[in-house]
Amino acid sequence: MVARRETVCVTGASGFIGSWLVMRLLERGYFVRATVREPGNLKKVQHLLDLPNAKTQLTLWKADLSDEGSYDDAVNGCDGIFHVATPMDFESKDPENEVIKPTVNGVLGIMKACVKTKTVRRVIFTSSAGTINVEEHQKNVYDEQNWSDLEFIISKKMTGWMYFLSKTLAEKAAWDYAKENGIDFISIIPTLVIGPFITTSMPPSLITGLSPITRNEAHYSIIRQGQYVHLDDLCNAHIFLYEQAAAKGRYVCSSHDATILTISKILRQKYPEYNVPSTFEGVDENLKSVVFSSRKLIEMGFNFKYSLEDMYVESIETCRRKGFLPVSENKGPTSDDSEHKT
Ligand SMILES: NC(=O)c1ccc[n+]([C@@H]2O[C@H](COP(=O)([O-])OP(=O)(O)OC[C@H]3O[C@@H](n4cnc5c(N)ncnc54)[C@H](OP(=O)(O)O)[C@@H]3O)[C@@H](O)[C@H]2O)c1
Repeated sequence: MVARRETVCVTGASGFIGSWLVMRLLERGYFVRATVREPGNLKKVQHLLDLPNAKTQLTLWKADLSDEGSYDDAVNGCDGIFHVATPMDFESKDPENEVIKPTVNGVLGIMKACVKTKTVRRVIFTSSAGTINVEEHQKNVYDEQNWSDLEFIISKKMTGWMYFLSKTLAEKAAWDYAKENGIDFISIIPTLVIGPFITTSMPPSLITGLSPITRNEAHYSIIRQGQYVHLDDLCNAHIFLYEQAAAKGRYVCSSHDATILTISKILRQKYPEYNVPSTFEGVDENLKSVVFSSRKLIEMGFNFKYSLEDMYVESIETCRRKGFLPVSENKGPTSDDSEHKT
């Protein structure tokens, strides 16, 4: 493996994706500045401090998307930025101030910090499928050309609406700012991320992905016609896009599509003890899956390594090990879900 001597900043480093990305960057030889909101809270950072190479290559920096100028110090002198942080609270009582404003102002604050320091050669922004296909009628195939329908999101207010809105507004604002200020900006657009994890809390996307097991029906609409990527594939794709000089623009990062019935079949076969439902309201065998095309990423030379089964088995095994899912019969959502309702 080529030893990289660059210094990169990873925002939202304590989270599901951020922490795995930090792990892969450290392995690859990068010096990583990990931003978190509470560097003193060991429950949220110990898994980072315990990573191989952390002692010599990792530093923790305090930063909050809600505070202007908060990222200036962490970004100052960096070669690259992976902006992963985002508020994920689908049940926020104040979506405007808790989700939308911090997401939009946060990415702009980070980009302003890049302009100030002049050392940053590329910014990788972790966007979301929610910027692409949230609209009344689903197309058969989506790619980087598509954008979600903001009026539909605002009028429908479906589960997660404030998150879809915040990510779309943030990515659009970031593109405008990048063009005006000559920043090398790339957005990576993951679909639902499933896989093993090193965080101590239940990852938000697993609350959605594992909802047929926990019977969290509010999340069924998200996976009715879902698309998926393994956490490790996604983090490798972040690094791949950072290192590929020719990379440009938006990149969908999604390896599988499946209806909720396909997911239910996999779960029923692998884990009959959870009694996952085999039928879902408004879903029949004729429901087509909706494809997110990663053709642009694959043509750039990226290879996906994991199957849909890998994603589910690895996430469930991690949840069982950490006590987020019962090992035997289904007892419904586990206690930690209450902390992380999304
Ligand atoms: N997981 C998925 O399926 C999925 C799919 C598509 C896109 N994404 C994108 O991937 C990124 C990471 O998601 P994730 O699944 O890893 O979620 P996560 O585990 O909730 O991580 C998000 C991180 O963002 C940080 N954060 C939240 N509010 C913040 C604020 N106001 N200021 C600073 N940091 C804040 C949190 O850090 P603290 O620990 O400091 O509180 C948290 O660790 C997000 O940008 C999301 O849009 C995720």
